[in-house]
Amino acid sequence: MGSEKIIEEKNQGQALLTAQKEGNTKKLYIESYGCQMNLNDSEIVASILNGQGYNTTHLIEEADLVLVNTCSIREKAELTVRKRLEKYNAVKKINPTMKVGVLGCMAERLKAKFLEEEKIVDLVVGPDAYRDLPNLLDEVEAGRDAVNVILSKEETYADVSPVRLNSNGVSAFVSITRGCDNMCTFCVVPFTRGRERSRDPKSILEEVNDLVEKGYKEITLLGQNVDSYLWYGGGLKKDFNKASEIAQATAVDFSQLLDIVATTHPKIRIRFSTSNPQDMSLDVIKTMAKHNNICKYIHLPVQSGSTSVLKRMNRQHTREEYIELIDNIRKILPDCSISQDMITGFCGETEEEHKDTLSLMEYVKYDFGFMFAYSERPGTPAEKRMADDVPNDVKKRRLNEIIQLQRKHGLKILEEFIGKTVEVLIEGSSKKSDAHWKGRNSQNAMVVFPKGDEKIGDFVNIYIEDCTSATLLGKRK
Ligand code: SAH
Ligand code: F3S
Repeated sequence: MGSEKIIEEKNQGQALLTAQKEGNTKKLYIESYGCQMNLNDSEIVASILNGQGYNTTHLIEEADLVLVNTCSIREKAELTVRKRLEKYNAVKKINPTMKVGVLGCMAERLKAKFLEEEKIVDLVVGPDAYRDLPNLLDEVEAGRDAVNVILSKEETYADVSPVRLNSNGVSAFVSITRGCDNMCTFCVVPFTRGRERSRDPKSILEEVNDLVEKGYKEITLLGQNVDSYLWYGGGLKKDFNKASEIAQATAVDFSQLLDIVATTHPKIRIRFSTSNPQDMSLDVIKTMAKHNNICKYIHLPVQSGSTSVLKRMNRQHTREEYIELIDNIRKILPDCSISQDMITGFCGETEEEHKDTLSLMEYVKYDFGFMFAYSERPGTPAEKRMADDVPNDVKKRRLNEIIQLQRKHGLKILEEFIGKTVEVLIEGSSKKSDAHWKGRNSQNAMVVFPKGDEKIGDFVNIYIEDCTSATLLGKRK
């Protein structure tokens, strides 16, 4: 999901700690690449394997089982994983009995081909098949390769309680939907993660309650497209029309889910990701306005500022409709920060169309963004039907232009915080200085300030005195 984002940069390649259960003797080394959903899936996998005799380790050399949760969103993401497999090959020389499994989107995309292409791989498991891991591991222990990449119409792992890996004990992800039905022509996700399903609100709330009991202070509700969340007793989103009248009348949509979670836990910060402009309703925006504890931040990928490109991408809205949504957000939530995902150099993108993206950015003035050069993905509608005809250097030049513009806007927005007081949830020590805390404000801006008698997980008011290109600097108010 969307969200490679900051999380991706922070967590790429790190072994995820820690899932420990007394009596477990086997060791699992698990790494996660790509989106927040992958990270959360790794927590689900660690939980399942915790029940199968495995504790996590951060030392690959002592692992009985190495799992890599993979991303297919761009070619580069896949190349990174291939490189990791080379590293595992080297480790296998000193740890010859270790088994290697590939999870996630690359597993789904390449299936059994992985076993032929990468000799080191013993196990290939797609995003909907993690429950089958114990059986698959039995196969592997018996000396056979094992593959399960069956996509499911129901699987939401609602009853698996994820063990929190690499957690700061303050913020946690809770998945609310899986899969995506949107079929943006450039995107591989609908093929690797399957049809969209929503999770029972009861089990979502139970997971949130449990996290709150354990002391977590911030919950991020996750989905490829959270605005499209719809619970009507189970089943695929696309089959809602066929559900009974009662099921339809008592259905819970995303704004209602948000309202339930925020009302139940008024002291807990609620975030969500990712929003899709075509599905984001006024009700969601109004629910955000109603609750102080829902963070005033919307990640709202648009991909392009040109209606004709949006059409080729099969995004279900025009530039004008997107602007109308932005205007509504600004009207109802004047303090809300907004971030984007953009793609430069999509099939047939002209200079004029690229300029439309720049002018949309000028209009919206995003707080931050995640920008990419188009990377053709095998099997997607764009790969099948359109020519990847924008030269690489043009894609890169356009990418650079939007990155520069985003930097300018991002800095200007941060500067506007100077002289204001913001509420910060302390997440840990600043990376650069042990004498400083770091945490984010409601708008998701990183804030750093000198340590006093506060502790991780505290909410504090910070007076902003200065900023760098990505961080607000302040002191206790
Ligand atoms: N709805 C998802 C989007 C997942 S992909 C979410 O949860 O955010 C994250 C971002 O990767 C997309 O918004 C898009 O900007 C980018 N992306 C997806 N496919 C791409 C491709 N083929 N080439 C370049 N960027 C791509
Ligand atoms: Fe991909 Fe579009 Fe869904 S970007 S994840 S197909 S909303």
